[in-house]
Amino acid sequence: MDIVYSIAEVREKISEARTRGLGVGFVPTMGFLHEGHLSLVRESQKHTAYQVMSIFVNRMQFNDPKDFDAYPIDLERDFKLASEAGVDLVFVPDEKEIYRDRKTYIDMELFTDHLCGSARPGHFRGVFTVVGKLFNIIQPDVSVFGQKDIQQAVSIEKMVFDLNFPVKIIISPTVREEGGLAMSSRNKHLKETERKSALVIYRSLQKAEEMLKTGERRWDTIRSEMEKIIASGCPRSIDYITAVSYADLQPAGTLADRSVIAIASFFGATRLIDNMIVELKGDGVTCIY
Ligand code: PAJ
Repeated sequence: MDIVYSIAEVREKISEARTRGLGVGFVPTMGFLHEGHLSLVRESQKHTAYQVMSIFVNRMQFNDPKDFDAYPIDLERDFKLASEAGVDLVFVPDEKEIYRDRKTYIDMELFTDHLCGSARPGHFRGVFTVVGKLFNIIQPDVSVFGQKDIQQAVSIEKMVFDLNFPVKIIISPTVREEGGLAMSSRNKHLKETERKSALVIYRSLQKAEEMLKTGERRWDTIRSEMEKIIASGCPRSIDYITAVSYADLQPAGTLADRSVIAIASFFGATRLIDNMIVELKGDGVTCIY
């Protein structure tokens, strides 16, 4: 596995891979890798022969500077895990290399005015800008994003469509710890009791699936059962329990065709998110989470 720090080196390595006829897959990350990140590499391997991963803690997408300062970093461990997972090239730029004297942003109002967009002003602008830059630097054929951050994944699909980036976006299912807590670099900040309480998030999704599978379609009824379950874990606060349409991430009064049920809740100081994609076809229900 090659580890490079500059845009020039990335371009050189990728052009070598291209001359060998290899397709390029790309997984952007902020490091502190866990099984969720590595599952994206494995997904990418199904589509392309040469795997690139970026590790860059993107200050621009943190609306809270304390959150940025507390973001865990362990590059040596990341390199070992990435190499074991079969990554060919890791790109670890510093802020100077990525941003220099940047004045341009990528932004999108629709898709980001609900869910995490309202609680984290500026967050998605930071994500789109850095991902757009990384796409231009790496020029991958395929890039894989996790369903765990569904709003990010779906709006990047939209950004790629709108701005004609020649890359195929793949959304890969959420990887969970035992008990169902979605893996996240932020789980490190949870106290043991908070980690146990946070399992109510997964349980509330299971309850929603159970209700949908027994014919319930009223979102208010499903939502109120989910809220009861989450409240039983005594979260510090519930940010949202919302259903949105998959197509444009706008709030849906009722669940129709393809929707996303999304949750954000604080356990102690840690904000956790999770979601389930719901597909309704006649009486049939598919829940992916
Ligand atoms: P980061 O939080 O490091 O996540 C990198 C990728 O891993 C994202 O696509 C995310 O959705 C995915 N991921 C995280 N936890 C996962 C899990 N439990 N199961 C499956 N996939 C999971 O998301 C970012 O970084 C940044 O916003 C980034 C896209 C790199 C831009 O800075």
